[in-house]
Amino acid sequence: CGIVGILGKHEVSPLILDALQRLEYRGYDSAGIATLDEGQIDRRRALGKLINLSDLLVHEPLKGRAGIGHTRWATHGGPSVANAHPHHKGRVAVVHNGIIENFRALREELSADGSEFTSQTDTETIVHLASKFLDQGMSPDVAARETLKKLEGAFALAFLFEGEENLMIAARRGSPLVIGHGQGEMYVGSDAIALAPLTDLLTYLEEGDWAVITREGAEVHDASGNIVSRPMTRISQQNTRIDKSGHRHFMAKEMAEQPAILKAALGFYGVPNSGISGLPEGVDFAQADRVILVACGTAHYACHVAKYWFEQIAHVPVEIDIASEFRYRAPVLTAKTIAIFVSQSGETADTLAALRHVKGKIAQTIAVVNIPTSSIAREADLALPLHAGPEISVASTKTFTAQLLVLALLSLKAGVDRGRLDAKACDQHLEALQTVPGYVAQALDREDNYRSIAEILAKHDDVLFLGRGLMYPLSLEAALKFKEISYIHAEAYAAGELKHGPIALIDKNLPVVVMAPRDDLFGKTISNMQEVMARSGKIVLISDKAGLNATGGAEYTITLPAVPSFISPFVYSVPAQMLAYHTALARGTDVDQPRNLAKSVTVE
Ligand code: G6P
Repeated sequence: CGIVGILGKHEVSPLILDALQRLEYRGYDSAGIATLDEGQIDRRRALGKLINLSDLLVHEPLKGRAGIGHTRWATHGGPSVANAHPHHKGRVAVVHNGIIENFRALREELSADGSEFTSQTDTETIVHLASKFLDQGMSPDVAARETLKKLEGAFALAFLFEGEENLMIAARRGSPLVIGHGQGEMYVGSDAIALAPLTDLLTYLEEGDWAVITREGAEVHDASGNIVSRPMTRISQQNTRIDKSGHRHFMAKEMAEQPAILKAALGFYGVPNSGISGLPEGVDFAQADRVILVACGTAHYACHVAKYWFEQIAHVPVEIDIASEFRYRAPVLTAKTIAIFVSQSGETADTLAALRHVKGKIAQTIAVVNIPTSSIAREADLALPLHAGPEISVASTKTFTAQLLVLALLSLKAGVDRGRLDAKACDQHLEALQTVPGYVAQALDREDNYRSIAEILAKHDDVLFLGRGLMYPLSLEAALKFKEISYIHAEAYAAGELKHGPIALIDKNLPVVVMAPRDDLFGKTISNMQEVMARSGKIVLISDKAGLNATGGAEYTITLPAVPSFISPFVYSVPAQMLAYHTALARGTDVDQPRNLAKSVTVE
């Protein structure tokens, strides 16, 4: 969910609506705003996307210079107007991101005391608690403080109080929250992007902080109640600008940006100079007994690719896991373990929890993140930024290839540290990385090919992706992209595993996309493809010219540039993204904001 709050000099509801638009990537099943109109709480809430709230506000405007807003990704209670935020009781309104884990117990306690609930949300318990404390005669800040003491779980909150035109209370425990400083105005928001048109001067709240905010400034209290000073930072506009730059969707723009971003990231890490000076500093893999890579969703598949790189190049044992499983399976940790956490947002609750689980128990934690001010970046021992700029489309594209780049550099560093990669071999790999932006641009330049195949895939209800080696995680990523944005059921298998079960699915109605660059595993992958063809499966073969010349019988083909195996994941990311994108277009789905998903998932 995304939250915003403004103590302004002018009418705030249009500003809140604009900020919510910039936060819509965090959830979009309902939205709402509450303001203080002559001291009284007034609110509007609407089901579905923000546009519905914006329509409602045209007919029923909200007045007031103080307000809070919310865009929701449902956790407790389905999407409905009653469950939409802000929640309101008595003299308090609240917007909330996260989960109140003890809400059932609180709700029972409050109900026994006579509170009547109007929603199924965990959030409503917060307004009931605060309202009860106000009724007992507490001041708003004391009531908020006492309420916070009762809450368990991970959350970010903004409170508004009736009759208090110059007061907003914000709290952060587990979910991100930032305070913005304006000229005689103050703001809170889930991220810097939300507040970008209002201010670039920000204070990031730390874990457990809560703040009493007036138009004159913010008084921040830490978890133990002490007044603390948190630094103000100025955010560069480049990191908060969001526009489609003439593209139909953010996803199209973000895919197209990949060559430029990869080039810039290579420059940032000093790779154009070649030699080991271009490898990330601040980590030494020489003594590592293992590398653990943890992430969710697309970022997890970047880790999966990295496993092959680390093992082949650095000869170090590698474990990968999805963050929601990792810490619950009692992973074996030693003082020589290095763990890498990969996340676009740097706020994914599962990944953050996994990082906290290992901290202090292992040699080093490394964050590979796009948002350098994020929780994961700040809590890891070493943060390596992606430099990919804001990614707005829910389906990750440019951050996936940027993650691959940073992980490739880390695997080379590991190879050098462990004496497995000499200077010459390292240079060869770095040279190969320098060619990545050009090859990715070539792969992007086949849009008609992707579109025509996507139009065929769009007519099916299932698609299978196959690949071996580095192409196995790429197949997994391709299938994820398909599910996310085209809603077509897609599965990926390691090509060699097909015969152990999934081959039963093959018939003339099942399209099978085979990713097979002409590398050492090419022959084996093609044998698996033949097994599909022998059972009338419809093949889409993605390979390079030599690969396609060596094979016959594929019904559809996509020709990609021939590249060294090490960098093939970058190039094959493009068809993984483009086929899903064009299939989604053919199906008419909401590409940038697919149903049920949210870009940044700050609940476990
Ligand atoms: C969500 C998004 C995915 C994303 C995953 C991890 O589920 O829908 O696209 O890959 O979170 O996000 P992160 O910000 O940690 O990379």
